[in-house]
Amino acid sequence: MDKIYITRKLPEEIVEPLREKFDVQMWHSESTAMTYEEIKANAKDAHALWTALSDNIDRGIIESLQNLKVISNFGVGYNNIDVESAKEHGIIVTNTPGVLTETTADLTFALLLATARRITEVEQEIRAGNWISRSPMQYTGMDVFGATLGIIGMGRIGEAVARRAKGFDMNVLYHNRSRKLDAEETHGVRYMELDELLQQSDFVILLTPLTLETKGLIGERELNLMKETAAIINVARGGIVDEQALYEALVSKKIWAAGLDVFEQEPIPINHPLLTLPNVTVLPHIGSASIRTRLAMMELNAKDIEAVLKNKEPQNRIV
Ligand code: DGY
Repeated sequence: MDKIYITRKLPEEIVEPLREKFDVQMWHSESTAMTYEEIKANAKDAHALWTALSDNIDRGIIESLQNLKVISNFGVGYNNIDVESAKEHGIIVTNTPGVLTETTADLTFALLLATARRITEVEQEIRAGNWISRSPMQYTGMDVFGATLGIIGMGRIGEAVARRAKGFDMNVLYHNRSRKLDAEETHGVRYMELDELLQQSDFVILLTPLTLETKGLIGERELNLMKETAAIINVARGGIVDEQALYEALVSKKIWAAGLDVFEQEPIPINHPLLTLPNVTVLPHIGSASIRTRLAMMELNAKDIEAVLKNKEPQNRIV
């Protein structure tokens, strides 16, 4: 019987149907992630490895799992997997695109609004007992309606964000590796070179995958190009922004605010300098975290693992 190893504890309703056909084993704890060595040891003879974004599936792991046929990643991004190495070893890699698009776009918009109107910051003011008077300019933020939005990465989620932005009468610019003429026509978005987009936008949203080209895409130089009244929203991957440069830009008021759902290190360490700044709104990487969407993502992983183990073509193959 083929063995599936799952690196996170998943709901039984998802795992149960697989147990009838395969030897399914999974990590026991919802509160701790597996270490690198634990993955290597526990998944040693697995034919399928079901991974999460924080698992570093590098060449070392891939070469140590001799029976492996498929790695199925819980998430649309797969920067945690050495796909080249998987390909070399004839191992199929799958992900979970599509089903999380609208949910992630909702969260992106929620973070945009929260950052612009300082929602989490001012809520804390009430809870701390600091709301003791009302004055005209107290707790004021930035308008979202009618503002210029720059989307970096016009993939499925980028387009879903652009659609929402239209409802807020926003002027939407985008930058992408290649121009998206369809998106331009359908959503009325305008392509711009990165520097120009940074200069013109009131809100910059990062939605690119983390690759060698996008690592550190937004550093000191890029932040300096932004307006002093602008905010940056990162819902993609922490590594796309240089966090030290971001911290300095926020402290020195080169930019107005940041909304972050993702960080270079996750969970973000509690003593991280960004957490000391009131003009940073933070979320614990919850872009796709609605109950329905998370279950739909798991269904995709389960289907694709089953397909590969039955020698069929999976639906969401990366390599
Ligand atoms: C993804 O799917 O890549 C998201 O970051 C997960 O929430």
